[in-house]
Amino acid sequence: MTVGEGPLSPRHVAVIMDGNGRWAAVRGLPRSAGHRRGFEAARRLVEDALRRGVEVLTLYAFSTENWERPRAEVEVLLDLFADVLAREEERFDEERLRLRFLGRLERFPDALVDAMRRVERRTAAHDRMTIQVGVNYGGRADIVQAARRLAERVRAGELAPEAIDERLFADQLFTGGLSDPDLLIRTGNELRLSNFLLWNLAYTELYFTETLWPDFSSEEFERALVAFEGRERRYGRVTADPVEA
Ligand code: IPE
Ligand code: IPE
Ligand code: MG
Repeated sequence: MTVGEGPLSPRHVAVIMDGNGRWAAVRGLPRSAGHRRGFEAARRLVEDALRRGVEVLTLYAFSTENWERPRAEVEVLLDLFADVLAREEERFDEERLRLRFLGRLERFPDALVDAMRRVERRTAAHDRMTIQVGVNYGGRADIVQAARRLAERVRAGELAPEAIDERLFADQLFTGGLSDPDLLIRTGNELRLSNFLLWNLAYTELYFTETLWPDFSSEEFERALVAFEGRERRYGRVTADPVEA
């Protein structure tokens, strides 16, 4: 983050893709239909983000709390993840997109974990855009696992507690190595974070829209970018302009 970097396009955009169920309900369709259409919206957003030069796109697909949904819905979502991976793996590779999953993957079926790890390995060197997908992701769980990893290193005598600073801590998170989001978009008319990127959103600009996720269009994305460009990022200072500061 650079103070006074001006109204640029966001380099890192994070999205809470919410409202699939309601999109389906108003059409008298099962929630699964909303999730399928939600995937189409995500695909469209990837294209739009590429066009706008976004470097990192972080999508919230399944939270640690989403396991509390009816078993049938959880299964629909896991099947959809597996389908999407099988269908899109080739394309991620061809388009030089790096795919990375954030979250504790161990809770998913082995075949799905293998597919996720495979596509991560296959695309690891791609640099056109990084797509991070939160699956069984929780911001609190992420902070706890980071703390645990550091505690293990202290116990092993490899790390002094005084050496733990914000940068080292951030490196242990699932998002380790990547910048914080510049812009967070949440669709579906809920004004909350629902346990997404709790550490990383400290100075992120927030954009909320009533639009349900399957309806999130290229025009909506442009509106979010325009809103972002109008924000003044001060990072606690009096002015965003370092010359006047
Ligand atoms: C977001 O849509 C997708 C997931 C959380 C997996 P929802 O399924 O939460 O849809 P609503 O909020 O019930 O409409
Ligand atoms: C947040 O949406 C999680 C994802 C979009 C994956 P939820 O629908 O789970 O959030 P709440 O329950 O409305 O807070
Ligand atoms: Mg929801």
